[in-house]
Amino acid sequence: MRKPENHILVIFGASGDLTHRKLIPAIFDLYIKDTLPEKFAILGVGRTSFTDEEFRKRMGEGIETFASMVKASSNKAEKLKSFVKKLYYTSLNTKNAEDYNGFKSTLLNLDKETGTGENFIFYLATPPSMYTVIPENLAKQGLNSENTGFKRLIVEKPFGYDLESAQKLNNHLLKDYKEDQIYRIDHYLGKETVQNLLVTRFSNGIFEPLWNRNYVSHVEITSAESIGVGSRGGYYEGSGALRDMLQNHLLLLASLVSMEPPAIIDSNSIRNEIVKVLQSIRPIKEDEVDKHVIRGQYMPSTIKGVKVKGYREETGVNPESRTETYVAMKFFIDNMRWAGVPFFIRTGKMLPTRVTEVVIHFKQTPHHLFAGNTAITNNQNQLVIRIQPDEGLLLKFGMKVPGSGFNVQNVNMDFHYADLSEKELPSAYERLLHDCMLGDSTLYSRGDAVEAAWKFIKPIQDAWEKDRNISVHGYPAGTWGPDIADNLFEDPHLSWRYPCKNLANDGNYCEL
Ligand code: BG6
Repeated sequence: MRKPENHILVIFGASGDLTHRKLIPAIFDLYIKDTLPEKFAILGVGRTSFTDEEFRKRMGEGIETFASMVKASSNKAEKLKSFVKKLYYTSLNTKNAEDYNGFKSTLLNLDKETGTGENFIFYLATPPSMYTVIPENLAKQGLNSENTGFKRLIVEKPFGYDLESAQKLNNHLLKDYKEDQIYRIDHYLGKETVQNLLVTRFSNGIFEPLWNRNYVSHVEITSAESIGVGSRGGYYEGSGALRDMLQNHLLLLASLVSMEPPAIIDSNSIRNEIVKVLQSIRPIKEDEVDKHVIRGQYMPSTIKGVKVKGYREETGVNPESRTETYVAMKFFIDNMRWAGVPFFIRTGKMLPTRVTEVVIHFKQTPHHLFAGNTAITNNQNQLVIRIQPDEGLLLKFGMKVPGSGFNVQNVNMDFHYADLSEKELPSAYERLLHDCMLGDSTLYSRGDAVEAAWKFIKPIQDAWEKDRNISVHGYPAGTWGPDIADNLFEDPHLSWRYPCKNLANDGNYCEL
């Protein structure tokens, strides 16, 4: 694998959860795979004061628990010891413009010591309120200038709270940084299986010609989680499933499924196609939100004999909260390829299992030769692209039941990533961080795409805010969300797929 140029990765928010659970373990994995540059350091920045040693110890614990290569590594203790030597820490009140002078000296000293040529990546793993403050103060110190070495900015989600705030944030950042210096994270794009969507579509002569309104009846995208909001109630109250999952991850999946083939595989060509799709989604009018979008909230229930809390009982949540923990919607993409094909997407917390998948439902054959000889009501071919878990692909097709007559049953043809000899899928953060180090922004969201996604969401946000009559449907924790979400399908023969943890099964027979 190509090695990036020497540089320092500066992580703002280094005492937070994301840094020790995701970022540092991912960088450790890159280290074990020998894909970090020869000269490299991480400078953690936070308000809490730590010595370098304390920071190293804390990060070491994170690596032990969360890095995937830690188990595979033979001389683990040694590797860990040499890796953490690359970690440094400095405390900074990031709100205080005057303190950035001292921060700059610390950074430049470390740069001289390490020989990293003033190449810096600044990772904003802070609360979103700092996404304007930190970059601006860095710029005031000249730390945005690429005259000496590259300067890149990674911005965590959420990128904005609505269309207006996303536009403001983009404009603010673009005052001091060029678009190609800004890396907006959507960690779904870092997932191996999400990238494989493009390969499945564009490298297979059997799928590519069918991928349009002539052969596809509808597309279904599900991202279900079996956990609740846990300790994130405070954050989630101001977010809800629409902002937390749908505006970013689900619309991104929908874009990759439906975009035109890019002319070449490079950052701008792919991102141009993503934006075009997002701009072609038919807006849902404010007065039609109720018809096309269903929101729900999980209620107390008993799962496998254990009582679980409802959302309103979670810490940090208003006991009368109307925040949605589930959202399902139907939309159309108004372009040549997808005219008339409905897209059904849903996401929720406290559903029966954790699963993210895309299902392409193909149209039935034009003449139903065996219509009377089938026990199944839905004999459409389905291609299931499983993002997680049990990553893989599943094709469902009709086969003759052996014996007399012409009876048809659905059978599966499936591929599981677990069957590959190279089993280790890199974590999303590992892939994304490495790409940013290489200066490759293909798997990061471009500003116009983020705004286009917010623009589509806006009427839904507005309708929910203004119209108290739009219901928030309760659903017992551990179920597939409000029943009424089935009504999004006008055809009574169609419904959501109810996937299991393992790719090949669905419906009633799930591995528990
Ligand atoms: C995050 C959301 O972006 O994605 C979380 O803020 C959610 O609420 C998470 O749990 C899901 O990510 P994954 O990779 O586990 O599907």
